[in-house]
Amino acid sequence: MTKVLPTAQLTAEAYPKVKRNPDFKILDADDLKFFQTFLDNDELIHSSIAEETASFNQDWMKKYRGQSNLILLPKSTEKVSQILKYCNENKLAVVPQGGNTDLVGASVPVFDEIILSLRNMNKIRDFNHVSGTFKCDAGVVMRDAHKFLHDHDHIFPLDLPSRNNCQVGGVVSTNAGGLNLLRYGSLHGNVLGLEVVLPNGEVISNINALRKDNTGYDLKQLFIGAEGTIGVITGVSILAAAKPKALNAIFIGIDSFDTVQNLFLKAKNELSEILSAFEFMDRGSIECTIEYLKDMPFPLKNQHNFYVLIETSGSMKKHDDEKLEAFLSSALETKLISEGNLAKNEEEYNALWTWRKSVPPACNSYGGMYKYDMSLELKDLYSVSEAVTKRLNAAGLIGDAPKPVVKSVGYGHVGDGNIHLNIAVREFTKEIENLLEPFVYEYIASKRGSISAEHGVGFHKKGHLHYSRSDIEIRFMKDIRKHYDPNGILNPYKYV
Ligand code: MLT
Ligand code: ZN
Repeated sequence: MTKVLPTAQLTAEAYPKVKRNPDFKILDADDLKFFQTFLDNDELIHSSIAEETASFNQDWMKKYRGQSNLILLPKSTEKVSQILKYCNENKLAVVPQGGNTDLVGASVPVFDEIILSLRNMNKIRDFNHVSGTFKCDAGVVMRDAHKFLHDHDHIFPLDLPSRNNCQVGGVVSTNAGGLNLLRYGSLHGNVLGLEVVLPNGEVISNINALRKDNTGYDLKQLFIGAEGTIGVITGVSILAAAKPKALNAIFIGIDSFDTVQNLFLKAKNELSEILSAFEFMDRGSIECTIEYLKDMPFPLKNQHNFYVLIETSGSMKKHDDEKLEAFLSSALETKLISEGNLAKNEEEYNALWTWRKSVPPACNSYGGMYKYDMSLELKDLYSVSEAVTKRLNAAGLIGDAPKPVVKSVGYGHVGDGNIHLNIAVREFTKEIENLLEPFVYEYIASKRGSISAEHGVGFHKKGHLHYSRSDIEIRFMKDIRKHYDPNGILNPYKYV
């Protein structure tokens, strides 16, 4: 059994206004006995020792921690169904969990909810190399899906910095966007079918769906991004793209966010069909990452206010190289940018991506982080980061220890109009939280943005949806949740 020292404060203590729902049953010996009748030893962890359950109870940002004593890790859809049927009949609350890399406190319990981990459902079910249809269990780690498809000349249509831990079902449940949405589109387009266990144990499946199917409501869409509130995804069918034969990347230093936007326009015009990512990082993101990656050589000579990573994916290396070289030279000649590093080989390509993918763990390495994930019009995208930094500075909270905030940084997906704001902290305090909220949400609402672009709602943003959604939309969401889960056993205290 993996033992992890619990470091996050208990959610119940950090947020005392949230009360345990007294309608939920408290787990007892009979419940345990029932689960033991059909689950093997490696499908059940029961322990009241915090170190033994910390990796399931505590989130990746070390911000939330539940107090569950029971983790169920079924190996089949039938077993998931048996579990949910029993929990529903006995009003036992359940939190579904994938790789537990979630960023809004959605995948850990708030109180004593049973943790339903999909970790043991990790088989690839089928792959059709002609159509590109890939089917797998929900608990397949995204890295393994990538590896399998790579070996079959295809790619999984989504990539994330957490690819070594996150699971396919988890990314579908949270509708993660990732690093290449600009090219391959969202999971609402790529997911072909789902197998889902409803809270009453019924299995609803269209996992064998075809690419086109207009026979009525597209029910699977409801489960994409539902964060396990209306059903537990156990199987996914997804459209894999053909593996690009030529991948390339440039890392660029830029002095203003206006120039980032101009460069994006230039990239769309000149790199057009081969453009597959356009990511930005601000100075602070890279300062944290330089500290985190320690001895890794930085790809540019100077430090800049902004950095952009542009990736191209195509089918003919010579053609792509020529396009990229011409793009880089003209950007330098016209003084749009002052420095750029074009990867010369696969090793350099991977190294450039490491600078982008390491920003989240770098920010999380000082103790923890407050995190916001927002969509805004491109012209406003970086302004929220500036506003937050100004506010934290005015309160004298950013600086060397003992100040609680190490840095407030912004980075994200320019191509998707999505910024991530990471406030790297030495400790979580109510003073910081009260400065950030509702300020960040009000700011986003004033610009008509979305308070969650891709990380979801979870515990963090429950009760804040009105900043981005109308009353009628929220009412419909609540109706849908009630319809699927009348006893409210799935992922309670979260979402809507
Ligand atoms: C990313 O873009 O790196 C992911 O959304 C994860 C993160 O921001 O932590
Ligand atoms: Zn992201």
